[in-house]
Amino acid sequence: MQPARYDLESRHPGWPSHLGPLRVAAGTVELRPIRLRDAGEWSRIRLRDQAHLERWEPTSPGPWQERNSFWSWPSQWLALRGLARRGQCLPYVITVDGEFAGQITVGNVIRASLRSAWVGYWVSSTVVGGGVATGSVALVVDHAFGAAGLHRIEATVRPENEPSIRVLSKAGFRKEGLFQRYLDVAGDWRDHFCFAITAEETGPGLVRRLIDAGHAERA
Ligand SMILES: CC(C)(COP(=O)(O)OP(=O)(O)OC[C@H]1O[C@@H](n2cnc3c(N)ncnc32)[C@H](O)[C@@H]1OP(=O)(O)O)[C@@H](O)C(=O)NCCC(=O)NCCS
Repeated sequence: MQPARYDLESRHPGWPSHLGPLRVAAGTVELRPIRLRDAGEWSRIRLRDQAHLERWEPTSPGPWQERNSFWSWPSQWLALRGLARRGQCLPYVITVDGEFAGQITVGNVIRASLRSAWVGYWVSSTVVGGGVATGSVALVVDHAFGAAGLHRIEATVRPENEPSIRVLSKAGFRKEGLFQRYLDVAGDWRDHFCFAITAEETGPGLVRRLIDAGHAERA
């Protein structure tokens, strides 16, 4: 017997969804579900931005050129789409003025009495320093605590990654501690700070706070 439609939907409240628009210094930021046809732009940007991205990303087998080729996107898209359909992640593309500009993913979604997940992100080198990551984190966290029904979002970041630490601090995350030799990044086990935020800490919402602080405007 087919489950009722509401049963299917309620397995993953808040997905699929489009978030934004939000205007930041770099342009108008929107978040939308990843698509198979993102292969071209995803690959073009990531091949060009190897130096900007590789030292912060989890170690994977094979050379960067291979892992980020046009033909490696379909399997990644399929895996993320499968997790999204099972209610385990919310995988978004970040667009700036309608153009592909990065990814932000809410992953390892756990429900029941934990209602927790992590957030991870990267943006194209052409828009760094323009508030895109901070705006995207604010949009996604408000959604995670709203329609998606979560309670806690965690982010882990290497102590050397000053731009990302700044993003999390500006968005309102709290530093909880240091995970030693936590993750295999760029070929070795790296310490990571753990940052987190819970629904009670967001007040009027992270987007509202960014706007009130003059870092963003409603588009
Ligand atoms: C980290 C990253 C997502 C930031 O994206 P972004 O869109 O540039 O972020 P924002 O513009 O919202 O904020 C960046 C902040 O870091 C600051 N910053 C940049 N370089 C810095 C540095 N070397 N030291 C300290 N602060 C720095 C910027 O000035 C800005 O703060 P401000 O608004 O107070 O001026 C982007 O650099 C990236 O994709 N890096 C590679 C992948 C990565 O590190 N992902 C995160 C893994 S945890």
